[in-house]
Amino acid sequence: MSTIDELLERKSIRIFEHKPIPDDIKAQLLECAFAAPTCGTQMLYSIIEVEDPVTKARLAKICQNQQFIARAPWLLVFLADSRRWYDCYELAGLDPRPPTILDMLLSYEDACYAAQNMVVAAQSIGIGSCYIGLIHSDHDEVVKMLDLDQYVIPAAVLILGYTTPRQQRRRKPARFDSRFLVFKDKYRRLSDEELKEMFVLREQDFDKVVRRIFRTKYQIGPEDGAAVLGSVGKYIYGYGANQVTRPEDHPGYIPRAYRPELAALLSGGDDDDCDVDCPPGDLR
Ligand SMILES: Cc1cc2nc3c(=O)[nH]c(=O)nc-3n(C[C@H](O)[C@H](O)[C@H](O)COP(=O)(O)O)c2cc1C
Repeated sequence: MSTIDELLERKSIRIFEHKPIPDDIKAQLLECAFAAPTCGTQMLYSIIEVEDPVTKARLAKICQNQQFIARAPWLLVFLADSRRWYDCYELAGLDPRPPTILDMLLSYEDACYAAQNMVVAAQSIGIGSCYIGLIHSDHDEVVKMLDLDQYVIPAAVLILGYTTPRQQRRRKPARFDSRFLVFKDKYRRLSDEELKEMFVLREQDFDKVVRRIFRTKYQIGPEDGAAVLGSVGKYIYGYGANQVTRPEDHPGYIPRAYRPELAALLSGGDDDDCDVDCPPGDLR
């Protein structure tokens, strides 16, 4: 099957064959994750393979009590890791500023792209997977359980295993039509008619689906909501309380070392200036 067909066919798999994934296959899938694009080739993530049944069960409970999580043959937590490079900077005697929300977002991106590479690679060899949300809902428990450090936060929980024929036959949930998602040059807020049509085109009842998602995914009860937001806030505050400030509060924000390369790129320097270790995306 072509990669495009694989991507279009892929669906989340939650129930797996009772068959472990061999170590060499796991190693290969990890290599595929590592091969994903990564900011400045820094690989701003770590991955925890959760094997301990007690930890698996606790994770399943934290993630909205979804028991199939604990039964998954391979359970990975992709961590957005701003710690490793910070430690390197300190080790190199560079007196680094502490990691910021920008570092958090970049490491989050890195972790998710790595995870998604693994999802696609796994699918191509008959291994299904499913992301699991809401690990952020219990900061204290997760930090303790996984021994997380400051500047290290969970980005994605992924379960993997050999797909059962039944799961394979399941209908893949329909997507919204491209016209509601893709714009030219500028963002456009959808009209009321378009918002409704969006659901009609995927053969869904607007009121029913919007109310269900509102109830189950968005407007979680006031107590739960406060707890989840409080938990997420702790991850952010873990980066230090001085995060939400104006850019001018961070005069040294564009790393000094990058400025010559930035100037060269902006003045149209040839491609060789764009070192692999310092691609344009890093020059922020
Ligand atoms: C960030 C994220 C969190 C998710 N969390 C869960 C989850 O907690 N439980 C679950 O069964 N599926 C979860 N999923 C899978 C989605 O339900 C699934 O991707 C969606 O329904 C589309 O179906 P498909 O992946 O089969 O195309 C999650 C997916 C993403 C991207």
